[in-house]
Amino acid sequence: MKITQQEILAQAAVAESLRPVFAGKKAMVRTFGCQQNEADGERILGELVACGLTPTEELAEADVVILNTCAIREHAEQRVLGIIGSMKKEKEKRPQMLMGMCGCMAQEPHRQEQLMQSYPFVDFLFGTDMHHRVPGILKEVLSSRRQKQFVTDLPHSEFGVISEGTPVCRDSAYKAKVSVMYGCNNFCSYCIVPYVRGHERSRDSAEVLAEVEGLVKGGYKDIMLLGQNVNSYRGDMDFPALLEKCASFEGEYWVRFMTSHPKDASPALVRVMAEQQRVAKHFHLPFQSGNDRILSAMNRKYNREQYLEKALAIKERVKDVSLTSDVIVGFPTETEKEFLDTVELVKQVGFDMLYTFIYSPRKGTVAEKMEGRIPHEEQVRRFSYLSEVQNEIAQKNNDALVGKVLTVLSEGANEKGVPTGRSSGNKIVTFDTPVPRGQFCKVEIHTAKQYALGGKLLK
Ligand code: SAH
Ligand code: SF4
Ligand code: F3S
Repeated sequence: MKITQQEILAQAAVAESLRPVFAGKKAMVRTFGCQQNEADGERILGELVACGLTPTEELAEADVVILNTCAIREHAEQRVLGIIGSMKKEKEKRPQMLMGMCGCMAQEPHRQEQLMQSYPFVDFLFGTDMHHRVPGILKEVLSSRRQKQFVTDLPHSEFGVISEGTPVCRDSAYKAKVSVMYGCNNFCSYCIVPYVRGHERSRDSAEVLAEVEGLVKGGYKDIMLLGQNVNSYRGDMDFPALLEKCASFEGEYWVRFMTSHPKDASPALVRVMAEQQRVAKHFHLPFQSGNDRILSAMNRKYNREQYLEKALAIKERVKDVSLTSDVIVGFPTETEKEFLDTVELVKQVGFDMLYTFIYSPRKGTVAEKMEGRIPHEEQVRRFSYLSEVQNEIAQKNNDALVGKVLTVLSEGANEKGVPTGRSSGNKIVTFDTPVPRGQFCKVEIHTAKQYALGGKLLK
């Protein structure tokens, strides 16, 4: 459902009316999880600023605190619960402080119950389709003494909104995240995302293009188009066409995207990356498992051979591409031999970076009910083994870059004070002479580590 402009304007009016209430007060949004969630966090902070609050990163001085949570694995959720627990003290010290929770965890019914029962000091909670309503939510919370929950109970096919024209407070002046679509219809058997983000829906291409053009004019140099599966983008054009248009504005900048699902990563997308100079040469293509039986149990809708064909085509057609992926080890019933198929695939493709995850059962998903759980120690062993294999590959790939000259977008200095930036393939590159952040420069690579390159700035 697209939120009407009338509703957006009504919320803006509520925000305006709250300005005197929040004058001189500060707000903090702490985001966990993926880039999509980070983009949401920037919008939520934008709403808070519209309500008269000033952003802060210090909990001790925040009058409104919102935890924007992630539910992808047990570990992510435990971390958030730990932080909420530790915030009880802060709330006791300053009872007038408003504490809220949103994001994917807030969308899970069992977490909503748990919050009511075990964390009554959390003042409010809102779901992933309520971002545009933040001013109204704050207003209601201010006038209520009880914990308030703002969540939908619509079924997956109806759950999810698109809102345009809401304020945004970006956390960088040169790197921007732009959602092109929301939600997911894929229902991979292990994954919570479709349940907490609703059905797939795409923004109008005109809205996306206007946002990207505005960012380019505003000096942004790295623009990331976001979606759980960008290839499912269905505006009045498909994703490769949208990407091509996003890369056609005047100026020096990069456009990148996350994430592609192998079942729909098309030759057209690979062609756009190969041909368009402004499309960053980074392809993130999660494979999850190298074994056909496990892929089918995961409901991934492609097999090993199809994946390999696509991955190798990307490496062949896109010059200097950096290919990265996600993989899950220890999925229920995964045998040693099936795990070794994954290891073999990793060796065959030669990824530049691999995000390896230990399978974590998620409440309400199909895999949660599967028998044959792999013992944790065995999952950890597979994790460590695969990480070692990948580390060697990453080192080899980076060694091959020594002597080359890379274009790097400066990120200023790292925590050790060393000038640093990212390449088009999203690799970390450190160099010898400071360059203002947000500026492109050329670096000749002299040293290679597993996940970082070092070199000399070319004048
Ligand atoms: N939409 C993206 C993935 C988003 S989640 C895609 O389909 O590629 C990011 C990664 O988290 C996934 O690729 C998967 O590797 C991992 N993941 C998701 N659910 C998980 C679970 N239950 N346990 C372990 N890892 C999981
Ligand atoms: Fe989860 Fe699969 Fe959707 Fe990715 S495509 S968000 S892994 S259900
Ligand atoms: Fe986490 Fe939700 Fe993203 S579960 S990974 S924050 S979509």
